[in-house]
Amino acid sequence: MSTDAPLWWEDGALLLIDQTALPHEVRTLSCTSWEQVAEAIRTLRVRGAPAIGLAAAYGLALAARAGASLEEAAAGLRATRPTAVNLAWALDRLLGVARATPEPADRAARLLDAARELARADAEANRRIGRYGAALLPPGARVLTYCNTGMLATGGYGTALGVLRRAHEEGRGIRAIVCETRPVLQGARLTTWELGQLGIPATLITDNAAGALMRAGEIDAVIVGADRIAANGDVANKVGTYTLAVLARAHQIPFYVAAPCSTVDLGTPSGEAIPIEERPPDEVTTLAGIRVAPAGVAVRNPAFDVTPYELVAAIVTDGGCIRPPYAEGLRRALAAARQDAGAATAWGPGAAAVAEGAA
Ligand code: MRU
Repeated sequence: MSTDAPLWWEDGALLLIDQTALPHEVRTLSCTSWEQVAEAIRTLRVRGAPAIGLAAAYGLALAARAGASLEEAAAGLRATRPTAVNLAWALDRLLGVARATPEPADRAARLLDAARELARADAEANRRIGRYGAALLPPGARVLTYCNTGMLATGGYGTALGVLRRAHEEGRGIRAIVCETRPVLQGARLTTWELGQLGIPATLITDNAAGALMRAGEIDAVIVGADRIAANGDVANKVGTYTLAVLARAHQIPFYVAAPCSTVDLGTPSGEAIPIEERPPDEVTTLAGIRVAPAGVAVRNPAFDVTPYELVAAIVTDGGCIRPPYAEGLRRALAAARQDAGAATAWGPGAAAVAEGAA
């Protein structure tokens, strides 16, 4: 199957690419209730911060069609994954649309339109991120990336992977170095699959090999996505991101974060206030369904970590490429984007004014 998005609406249902089946099989899952959407998010059938926000938005549209309580559905969807702020962001937008639709009979159609618009705007935002981010990568760069930040994780095109995609489209001759991303291997299973579909040269490494490759001079830049960016520029992303940022600093390699403005949470002052999701122990004790640790072993499985802003060379948003100090840059980017987008459902391109490389 060739698709540009991980989820879409068809015949009264939300269809998702079931990401747990990749790369072996491209299988779609049909969700006709918000509860099914919540379960798909919880079990990582759909994953990646922007994509789970979009799935939740469609989930709320399904709740409206069924005449269910929107508050209850929103609470259920919101509770599925606490770290990615895009989830709450999308739900709050949809609840706002519901409140602004006085006639209950109109709500289902309005919410579906709003969910579609969020998806369209996210894909468009990612194309802008790609454009700003590609300008950071020198020709021939070997760029290490983590987890999956491609079209599978977004409304389309991808964030950090979108930057690689755009650099490839521009003929910069880049190569992606993909960390496998334990415990559930989003890098090995999903990112290499997407890069293969796009014809972008890629090399898969174990997470443990990153430091050795950096020391050997085989990595020119690191680029990752984000699940939440705090007001001071601290970044929550897939657990292991912090390790890569420390390694990059030790080897004087630029460490970039790419994310849409919907991932920036000015209500969270710093990384310390970001809730970190703990996932089930079996993700650690098993590998591809095979137990690799003794039964009963104690396990910690935080799904995300926080990279302090001091380790981040630039944050590439749809508003442009923001350099430190982030507190000021992020505030200005969001304010400009909000102004530009007006009452629309997504951040607009106007924040480019605050950023370098925004032409
Ligand atoms: O647990 P996941 O697979 O949802 O984690 C995803 C990530 O950490 C991504 O880097 C992040 O959501 C950005 S996706 C554009």
